[in-house]
Amino acid sequence: MSKISAAITAVGKYVPDYVLTNQILETMVDTNDEWITSRTGIKERRILKGKNKGTSFLAINAAKNLLSKTNVDPKEIELVIVATATPDMQAAPTSVYVATQIGATNAFGYDLIAACSSFLYAISTASSYIESVKYKKVLVIGADMNSSMIDYSDRTTCIIFGDGAGAVLLEPNEEGLGIQDEYLRSDGIGREFLQVPAGGSIEPATEQTIKDKKHFIFQDGRTVFKWAVSNMADVCLKILEKNNLTINDINWLTVHQANKRIIDATAKRLEFPTERVMTNIEKYGNTTSATIPLLLSDYEKQLKKGDNIIMAAFGGGFTWGSIYLKWAYNS
Ligand code: UT7
Repeated sequence: MSKISAAITAVGKYVPDYVLTNQILETMVDTNDEWITSRTGIKERRILKGKNKGTSFLAINAAKNLLSKTNVDPKEIELVIVATATPDMQAAPTSVYVATQIGATNAFGYDLIAACSSFLYAISTASSYIESVKYKKVLVIGADMNSSMIDYSDRTTCIIFGDGAGAVLLEPNEEGLGIQDEYLRSDGIGREFLQVPAGGSIEPATEQTIKDKKHFIFQDGRTVFKWAVSNMADVCLKILEKNNLTINDINWLTVHQANKRIIDATAKRLEFPTERVMTNIEKYGNTTSATIPLLLSDYEKQLKKGDNIIMAAFGGGFTWGSIYLKWAYNS
């Protein structure tokens, strides 16, 4: 029997209808379109509105979009992993609710929480299930409702983040396509530079934490920026080296969309041609766990069977890493 690898066999996406443009932000905080565009590359982001809607709403719709493009019966799905930094609620996993709502009634589910690297780590986890030969259909959804932890009077964060979700289905492949290798890293030094200080077990919610705005995201942007550029480039080089590849062997670079300057600086360090760097940050901003699957969805039609793709992410924690995959289908 030939070696089984885990291949992405379908993708899907969902972004909410409401578009928060730079022009609207200009009326909310002391900022302007020129600053946001030149410092981040972002023009607009999507925000989920409506009572009782959370990350599961985004994830369910991305999964339904994926299922509508395949012949897969949701009952065949064995595992649903929701990669997220903004689960619906504590203690009850978002993924379990999502699985039930999409009709994946034979699946078990759990959430994987690793900030902006959640999706990459989830792909690593899911591919191990497939390679074990015990599982044949694993759904990974990167979904985040970042607007739930943004202070819309803080100009340093409200201009960056957006809401969205992307889904991928992983299935066994015997042609040598799919996930080839990974290089995943983390360093707890990063905790102080990017966090939501309260609401977790260290500082549970109180009247005072709310008054002190400790349930909103805090980021030391400059420090995170420096770490992101050097480490994303580093893990891309490492995975190329591990697999005896050069930049010329790679068709697409698919990196976390946190800031256009980070994406460009990473590509420059790698001497990777910009036309083969996937980008959609201008439309969605930073959607945390959803950036990479949203890219795969948006570029799906341009991808060809056998294309070599390097995915890389960097985020809170710090967490970061790269995955090398061979695309498995023509759409
Ligand atoms: O996905 C998770 C990982 N996150 C990241 O990778 C994010 C990494 N960091 C960044 O993307 C960038 O650091 C930011 C976009 C967050 C900020 O850009 P920056 O070029 O690092 O700006 P800065 O924080 O150094 O601020 C420069 C100036 C400051 O004014 P002074 O002190 O020079 O007078 C800020 O107060 O820009 C000011 N500023 C703004 N001005 C207009 C900060 N935010 C804004 C704003 N509009 N929205």
